[in-house]
Amino acid sequence: MRELLQDTLTDEGFRVESVGGGRAGIERVQRGGIDLVITDVRMPDLDGLDMLREIRSGDPSGPQPPHVIVITAFGSIDTAIKAVKLGAYDYICKPFSMDALLVAVQKALEERGLREEVRRLQSEVERPYRFDNLIGRSPQMQEVFSLIRRLSGSMANVLITGESGTGKELVARAIHYNSPRRKRPFVAINCAAIPDQLLESELFGYKRGAFTDARTDRPGLFVEADGGTLFLDEVGDLSPALQAKLLRALAEREIRPLGAQRPERIDVRVLSATHRNLEQRLKEGTFREDLFYRINVVQIHLPPLRDRPEDILPLAEHFLRKAAGTRNLSLSQAAAKVLMAHSWPGNVRELENVIERVVALAEGPVIQPEDLPPSVRERRPVDMLTSALQRGLTLADLEREYIARVMQAEGGNKTRAAQRLGLDRKTLYRKLEEEGLAQLVPGRERREADEVTAPMPRVSRPPPGSAEQG
Ligand SMILES: Nc1ncnc2c1ncn2[C@@H]1O[C@H](COP(=O)(O)OP(=O)(O)OP(=O)(O)O)[C@@H](O)[C@H]1O
Ligand SMILES: [Mg+2]
Repeated sequence: MRELLQDTLTDEGFRVESVGGGRAGIERVQRGGIDLVITDVRMPDLDGLDMLREIRSGDPSGPQPPHVIVITAFGSIDTAIKAVKLGAYDYICKPFSMDALLVAVQKALEERGLREEVRRLQSEVERPYRFDNLIGRSPQMQEVFSLIRRLSGSMANVLITGESGTGKELVARAIHYNSPRRKRPFVAINCAAIPDQLLESELFGYKRGAFTDARTDRPGLFVEADGGTLFLDEVGDLSPALQAKLLRALAEREIRPLGAQRPERIDVRVLSATHRNLEQRLKEGTFREDLFYRINVVQIHLPPLRDRPEDILPLAEHFLRKAAGTRNLSLSQAAAKVLMAHSWPGNVRELENVIERVVALAEGPVIQPEDLPPSVRERRPVDMLTSALQRGLTLADLEREYIARVMQAEGGNKTRAAQRLGLDRKTLYRKLEEEGLAQLVPGRERREADEVTAPMPRVSRPPPGSAEQG
């Protein structure tokens, strides 16, 4: 039977090898390069099902194991079902025609090819849009990834700026874990959360007896981070006194713990972050310029999420996968649209919280707009000029629209409208004529007759391709 199959399949153009027995089969598969295994269930040394189990039990993230077609004896449908449950692609019952076998082989190899293709495309789609745990499809985030990559051999101090929740800490971690210091500690401290005196002893440590409660020596975070990275979060909030001490530590590469006789050498890379505008603080004189240049050798700015809408859905999908665990949840198109329309004042953190909440409360497998919190569903009114900007209005468009609106508000009364617009009646008449508004503005009588509020005359020019918004 083996020889017959080998000859037939070779004639059909497949590359075929045959071995006798289950153990030899497993060994051959382990050497690699096999796409499909055809095996009988009954073999002298090892059951075909055991062999199947062995072949299909590889690491799911490793290379795809070969597909398996199991040949079973006539009438042993139980074995066939068992085989499929164990991961066999197909089974075929004895006696069988060669044509039936050929069809099964072709189908198996075709499906395997497709799977391979999907895997390849999937990794291709995901790879450029993530860097460690950072997700980002926008050009701005791609630039951030490339900067982190270029920094990977460097010890330069980096300042990370951006609004709250834009991912500053995540970027700091990515820099550390892609640096030569990755095996040494990453120590983070939030400078805004701790009162000054405490912060000083946290950072620089103290010696026994330095103050009443100092019963033992305590090494500071600079010592804890030795050889690694110290992340100073909210560095813009440091007091002038601590700014001076930090500057000395960075410039001289040594620290003096409270109550210490001599300074101690340190080897620490400093990454800092702030949501404040440090350049502004320099101008005001609340942040030292010399310290600024020490911590800001390289600057990475994380734009707010509203300025990189391309990232919203990839991030949402990422958080959805993370929060859903083994559940299979997806976003409906309508829900995705709502997420895209929101302005995300809390940036990525807000998005992450929203998705976590949605996953906790979701009932069906597909998330609908109603599942999103009201804060996200409600469209906040965009201010008038922003909306005008988005709609691409010219000054003349804006004037026309405002005149029409005031006319409407005054029920078509031109005298009052002119007063409200700060125009004399003649000028208003002329403008109404020029702008073709005269006949569009409803008079009192007509409005009463219609008993409905006439819609705003369409005088705007929406930018090409965009739906009306704002
Ligand atoms: N690009 C991103 N990809 C994946 N997760 C992100 C990304 N940006 C931010 N996050 C997630 O959003 C949350 C907020 O990020 P992070 O704490 O780094 O922000 P932050 O800028 O330090 O905020 P804050 O100024 O409030 O401290 C974290 O849970 C983080 O994992
Ligand atoms: Mg932070």
